[in-house]
Amino acid sequence: MMARETLPEVVVRIAAPQDAPVCGQICFEAFSAISTAHGFPCDFPGSEATTGLLSRLFSSPGLYCVVAESGGRIVGSNVLDERSVIQGVGPITIDPSAQNLGVGRRLMQAVMDRANERGAAGIRLAQAGFHNRSLALYASLGFDVREPLSCMQGRTHERSLPGCHVRPAKPGDAEACNVLSRRVHGYDRGVDLEQAIEQGTARVVERDGRITGYTTHLAFFGHSTAETNVDLQSLIVSAESFAGAGILVPSRNHVLFRWCLTNGLRVVQPLTLMSTGLYSDPSGAWLPSVLF
Ligand SMILES: CC(C)(COP(=O)(O)OP(=O)(O)OC[C@H]1O[C@@H](n2cnc3c(N)ncnc32)[C@H](O)[C@@H]1OP(=O)(O)O)[C@@H](O)C(=O)NCCC(=O)NCCS
Repeated sequence: MMARETLPEVVVRIAAPQDAPVCGQICFEAFSAISTAHGFPCDFPGSEATTGLLSRLFSSPGLYCVVAESGGRIVGSNVLDERSVIQGVGPITIDPSAQNLGVGRRLMQAVMDRANERGAAGIRLAQAGFHNRSLALYASLGFDVREPLSCMQGRTHERSLPGCHVRPAKPGDAEACNVLSRRVHGYDRGVDLEQAIEQGTARVVERDGRITGYTTHLAFFGHSTAETNVDLQSLIVSAESFAGAGILVPSRNHVLFRWCLTNGLRVVQPLTLMSTGLYSDPSGAWLPSVLF
């Protein structure tokens, strides 16, 4: 058997904002290579987008960001969202010339160690459904397959639903949204929501005078939680388009998924939600972000 190629010693360290241009280039090339190889569109339009994303992430409080260096050059990066008791991983990307040599495993282990040391109840991620290597890597690290997801894009034919009033979320709505999240998922994502309200992307839906659903953003990087599919649908129809690659619809929610198709949304690509640690089946309607 041929010996596996090796890299000079790999060192993992905390990412600094000035690492963003190199990591952003790697992130774009890694996603673009794997998507192109399978005939899917890249999740990001270009390296400016990934560099912009990583410079924001590398300087955001509540995120633990790491890079791997080998022979004095950066070969990959990873991000852990620590803003909730359930923590999310991604984006993780390795320079295509250094893939399949154990760097991804090191960068996953680094964020898993960090989450475990700090008492996270669980860790989650969304994995590109066509990517054998990431599926195998995460499964071997202890992540279980939880939900098939369909990334969907477009603009719904219906533009509002009777009885549902959708409006921008205000700081005073946060507690009702957090209570709803705890009821549906068993935990809340209050910090995430608070930041989304500040940024102006969060919306709530009201039915019979009370909040029955919220979204931090109808987007690849946003999550939504609601009492019923109708509440979630009313949030979805309120968007002119979905930011980034699209929204992530749990494909096993067959009523919602078929409604999205009937409403003209198109499937962009499959993803898989995976988790390690605490997981309970949500008791409500929901759209995860590309983290969870
Ligand atoms: C996914 C990614 C982060 C993994 O990093 P990597 O450094 O290439 O992966 P590693 O070498 O650490 O680990 C890959 C593991 O999968 C295994 N593997 C690869 N292909 C496999 C297959 N088809 N079936 C089973 N196992 C497979 C390898 O043997 C290795 O396992 P080992 O550590 O037990 O030997 C990296 O390939 C990447 O950046 N891909 C493009 C971007 C991307 O998809 N990011 C993830 C988004 S969810």
